[in-house]
Amino acid sequence: MNITPLKGEITVPGDKSISHRSIMFGSLAKGTTRVTHFLEGADCLSTIDCFRSMGVSIEKNEHEVLIHGKGLHGLKAPQTILDCGNSGTTMRLLSGILAAQPFSSELTGDASIRKRPMKRIMTPLSLMGADIESRDGTGCAPLKIRGKRLQGIRYDSPVASAQVKSAVLLAGLFADGVTSVTEPYVSRNHTELMLRGFGARIASEGTTASVFPAEELFAQEISVPGDISSAAYFLTAALLIPGSSLLLKNVGVNPTRDGILRVFRNMGADITLMDQRDCSGEPAADILVRAGSLHGTEIGGAVIPALIDELPVIAVAACFAEGTTVIRDAAELKVKESNRIAVMTEGLTAMGADVEETEDGMIIHGGRPLHHAVIDSRLDHRIAMSFSVAGLICGDMPEIRGRECVRISYPEFYADLDRLMRR
Ligand code: S3P
Repeated sequence: MNITPLKGEITVPGDKSISHRSIMFGSLAKGTTRVTHFLEGADCLSTIDCFRSMGVSIEKNEHEVLIHGKGLHGLKAPQTILDCGNSGTTMRLLSGILAAQPFSSELTGDASIRKRPMKRIMTPLSLMGADIESRDGTGCAPLKIRGKRLQGIRYDSPVASAQVKSAVLLAGLFADGVTSVTEPYVSRNHTELMLRGFGARIASEGTTASVFPAEELFAQEISVPGDISSAAYFLTAALLIPGSSLLLKNVGVNPTRDGILRVFRNMGADITLMDQRDCSGEPAADILVRAGSLHGTEIGGAVIPALIDELPVIAVAACFAEGTTVIRDAAELKVKESNRIAVMTEGLTAMGADVEETEDGMIIHGGRPLHHAVIDSRLDHRIAMSFSVAGLICGDMPEIRGRECVRISYPEFYADLDRLMRR
């Protein structure tokens, strides 16, 4: 396979986290919320299906999504078990909302999500007075929720997780008194930014976010910025394929999400942010990337939540960097759609890289040539796309089993890849 420089420009799909929230908050608002550049990935479609099952009318065409909100107290009891598919964001955020509704509900999803930890939301929601149980007693889905009157709490979360924070804050919208969540490090703050736009009273200070009970939310116009987590694949490829120069248009660069830019710059990358702007309350920019050589770095601490979903592709970049890269404080990677530490270590090793798995990350000695291998994606979209990037850079594409799982967050990934390579 020839190694073709990546040239020109690309607009990546809308941000997944923001797309989910637009459906959820739009459903709880009064009036019609209009969303453009919505991510049509399977995860966000699961969120739409769940809210439709609770009586919300949601229209969708190729340009926009219209959510005819039911108001804060307008959801109807679902007649079926709510299917969250592969989506942790759907299951965890929705649990926060459902815990406060005047009806009972059940949530389930695919084989991957039924293995992911739900105690992390069950614990704080129960402290608020919620009745939420893991049907099989495993701390995982299926979850059974009997809606209750909730009380506000101050919760010290043991993990920096926007899904946990958001579940508690959303329950807090319906609770008596103020609800606040303190995290070890700040996680993505899309819930806080967007809820404020919808009229909720939310305060953020340091690593604490607080919400006051809401009377009403009001419909919004939302233009979703491109997902930096999707941009990450082309950003990495363009940095490492000699001769590349790529403009990634209208990408969200919220400081709680831009860790990959900070880390790549530390590694020596040539990345320029152009036309920085506001996109419905979220910072966005065009990102110009030019190829160059990278060196190893240390990644840990407060930056981890700001690049958690990008660590698989950052691990790929580290294989092509000069020297050693150490990733630590990233044990959360083990409880994503797959155990991303184990799966990345296994696949990169099969491709010839020098990678060591640690308790909370990886140690990667860069500079070894990579080659073809057979990679099992474990149906984890970020694993499939990361190994596609590894193949693109080394010019020897691996066979990626289950690669169609990219539909979760980036249905057009392979089409975009082909288009960029044909220029
Ligand atoms: C997300 C939060 C993160 C992230 C996930 C999306 C969100 O998960 O990995 O892809 O939309 O809130 P955690 O909250 O579990 O860290």
